[in-house]
Amino acid sequence: MDRSNFTKFKIISLPAIASTNTYIKERIDELPENSVVIADIQTDGRGRLGNKWIADKGALSMSVLFKNISSAQNLTVISAVAVCQSLYRLYGIKAGIKWTNDIICENKKICGILCESAIKCSSDSEGHRSYVICGIGLNVNQEKEFFDKSGLSDGASLNSLYSREYDKTEIGLYILRRIAILQGMAFSEVIKTYKALCVTLGRQVKLIRNSCEITAYAKDIDENGCL
Ligand code: BTN
Repeated sequence: MDRSNFTKFKIISLPAIASTNTYIKERIDELPENSVVIADIQTDGRGRLGNKWIADKGALSMSVLFKNISSAQNLTVISAVAVCQSLYRLYGIKAGIKWTNDIICENKKICGILCESAIKCSSDSEGHRSYVICGIGLNVNQEKEFFDKSGLSDGASLNSLYSREYDKTEIGLYILRRIAILQGMAFSEVIKTYKALCVTLGRQVKLIRNSCEITAYAKDIDENGCL
């Protein structure tokens, strides 16, 4: 493994915070690019579409700050592929991607990804600056009861599926390495891998368009990662 890929990340490990994405958002100007925030516990984790993300000590809660990057969609695709590849390479676990960014194992959601982007306009010499905060929440060591109690019947952790404890730090670091490697590849190659991992293709899917639910056939993913 090329360590230069990995050492670009500056890791901040914290015991308990509200949300790793929010932590970065609130410090966006002072944190350098490629900062990574890993929290042992999140007390107010955020999911997509304004949902809450419940993440106790058993979860890997990690956010990465990318600066001067235009596409959050690319990083969503890269992160989803990085998570699947890491689980397979570390433990032989076969995970799939439910478009756009749910990671599925044994038909249960084990991981969610929240990529948030912003463009800051300023009148100084630096001009416009763009940011993407990529938050990864992977259920690692929670017991099955955690999902029952939290009303998350579609959710699972690696532990609840495979009855063993995993090293959250090992997984987090491996995911960062894969992200760095995938960022260095042609995006068309990453999309190929994404498609191969995508469990949504070839199925009927429900989509929300203009507040209406429609059913459609998921035929293909385009070169930008759109269905
Ligand atoms: C989803 O709704 O599926 C996305 C969940 C994303 C959760 C992660 S955990 C790390 C980061 N911090 C947050 O508050 N959310 C993301």
